[in-house]
Amino acid sequence: MILSVCKETADLEKRVALTPDAAGKLIEEGVEIRIESGAGAASSYADEKYRDQGAEVINDRGKLFSDCDLMLAVNTPPPEDLKRMKPGSTLICFLWALQNPELVKLLQKQKITGLGLEAVPRISRAQSMDALSSMSNIAGYRAALIGASELDRYLPMMMTAAGTIPPAKVLVMGAGVAGLQAIATAKRLGAVVEAYDIRPVVKEQVESLGAKFVEVPVVDEETETEGGYAKEASEAQKQKQQEVMHEHVKKSDIVITTALIPGKKAPTLVTKAMVNDMKQGSVVVDLAAEQGGNCEVTEPGKTIVHNGVRVAGPLNLASTLAYHASQLYAKNLLSLLSLLIKDGELTFDFDDEIVKHTTITHDGEIVSPMLKGT
Ligand code: NAI
Repeated sequence: MILSVCKETADLEKRVALTPDAAGKLIEEGVEIRIESGAGAASSYADEKYRDQGAEVINDRGKLFSDCDLMLAVNTPPPEDLKRMKPGSTLICFLWALQNPELVKLLQKQKITGLGLEAVPRISRAQSMDALSSMSNIAGYRAALIGASELDRYLPMMMTAAGTIPPAKVLVMGAGVAGLQAIATAKRLGAVVEAYDIRPVVKEQVESLGAKFVEVPVVDEETETEGGYAKEASEAQKQKQQEVMHEHVKKSDIVITTALIPGKKAPTLVTKAMVNDMKQGSVVVDLAAEQGGNCEVTEPGKTIVHNGVRVAGPLNLASTLAYHASQLYAKNLLSLLSLLIKDGELTFDFDDEIVKHTTITHDGEIVSPMLKGT
């Protein structure tokens, strides 16, 4: 089996799907590895390191796609590359299939078996394959650092000869994987942290990190889907949430927002009126910028100043820690591949819950339960 790894082409993308170490492990199992020259350069993995592990480094991107049995990538490669892939070959990357019907049609037409990492089910057995969590963890860490560096104040309490400075107040909205890491990082930097999530079940996790959970009286009874994700809140719940959050946003030095609803535009949690009421010099870091933003004044990809408040809408934060992001992503892939590769060949056991949910297209058909609505 020929496994290929392409260079990422998306703007701001520095990650690579496979590290030299991960390539070495697959080569030991009898897989032939080809990597596009320079694919790992932006994440500090030089071509030479792949060669040392026994991988072939090649320059011809066209051949890389046309000759492979399995292509690994971080983001979905452009259509012109996919059109070169052989019928029956496999692509594993983030496909975001729900949001990309045209891509799904192309995979069907080309008879490419497409596995979307966004569709890995969130069950214990799949935790080591959960690239969404690995990347969210990095984004949460980075968000806290961005907040700290944009702020014109200390985060920890400082007792100096020139006087005592109280610790900064950080509010994290959305306490999923990214939010929890943002809380932990802000705590390590010495801030006083509070957090809110629409799912009350995370209260305990927030408190175990030493942060205070902001309570909003619950109007909706069901806040979580079967898969553990958030459901969209009702209008009444949104209004109640906004009243309570307004008071907390006003008092915060840094607000980090991470709230997402899978497949939908991110919910607005920080309104313009709330930003207007924040102290001059305060900071908002909106991790949902890519999905439309949690803050009304966010401009994706920019840091703007609104009424004296710095509002950052960073994109692809995982890529800013490209070395470790690639290492974790590659480990997630290795774990998934250990399910799929038997005696050096790819096999798809659709009775396996992980294979069933992660596979989007196979043999020209849509097989994903998520896309079929089953
Ligand atoms: P996400 O990135 O989709 O959403 C981030 C957070 O935003 C979630 O905690 C969500 O509840 C919150 N949110 C959505 N709408 C909101 C609103 N209007 N106001 C406030 N908060 C709002 O979620 P993520 O981080 O990918 O994971 C969500 C949960 O999934 C985790 O906390 C965990 O419980 C579960 N999970 C389970 C795994 C496993 O068992 N293998 C692995 C990873 C996550």
